[in-house]
Amino acid sequence: MRIAVLVSGGGTNLQAIIDSINEGRITNTEICLVYSNNPKAYAIERAKKAGIPYVVKSPKEFENRQEFNEALLQILKDADPDLIVLAGCLVVIPKEVVRAFEGRIINIHPSLIPSFCGTGFYGLKVHEKVLERGARVSGATVHFVDEGTDTGPIILQKPVMVRDDDTAKTLQRRIMEQAEWKIMPMAIDLLANNKVKVEGNKVVIEDYDQNIVDSL
Ligand code: GRF
Repeated sequence: MRIAVLVSGGGTNLQAIIDSINEGRITNTEICLVYSNNPKAYAIERAKKAGIPYVVKSPKEFENRQEFNEALLQILKDADPDLIVLAGCLVVIPKEVVRAFEGRIINIHPSLIPSFCGTGFYGLKVHEKVLERGARVSGATVHFVDEGTDTGPIILQKPVMVRDDDTAKTLQRRIMEQAEWKIMPMAIDLLANNKVKVEGNKVVIEDYDQNIVDSL
């Protein structure tokens, strides 16, 4: 399975995917492209080190958003991935892309959807809201991308307990380490091995066992 990974920041989820492929936790998969809107994204350095083709194209380089959207669609069509993986991608994915790759785009969100998600919930803001609300449990979710924001069918989730002494940063880091970097590779491997199907708004995973997810 060819995957294109879309990034905007540090690329630790990209690195988890690279490492999982190299260590055999993800099979039948190759990263055919890393795309970033942000030329300063350390994720691009990670792609370079791993010898993965990359493209950096910022919306700022275009007269208007529509021209950027068309350019992004062409970049992805040229790469011809079987799956698009949003790994900390802060660019709003254009409807043209969602439609062209319907059912073949996944995203990692740093909370247990449908809590603390949707427009405006990204990066540290998510964890600030969790602490503000006094939630005892948070975590991460891998879901299919549809034309909404964080609204597509849920593939995997992993809970992470919130600690009384947590700051947004410590919670973010623990969710990345204990949840994101585990369930994103697992979701990709399940998809690469045809273990996932969508029935209505639910995802059915062959031989699914949440204990395996929790034990990761
Ligand atoms: C992660 O927290 C992810 O959940 C969110 O953006 C962050 C990306 O981190 N979507 P990285 O670029 O993968 O390190």
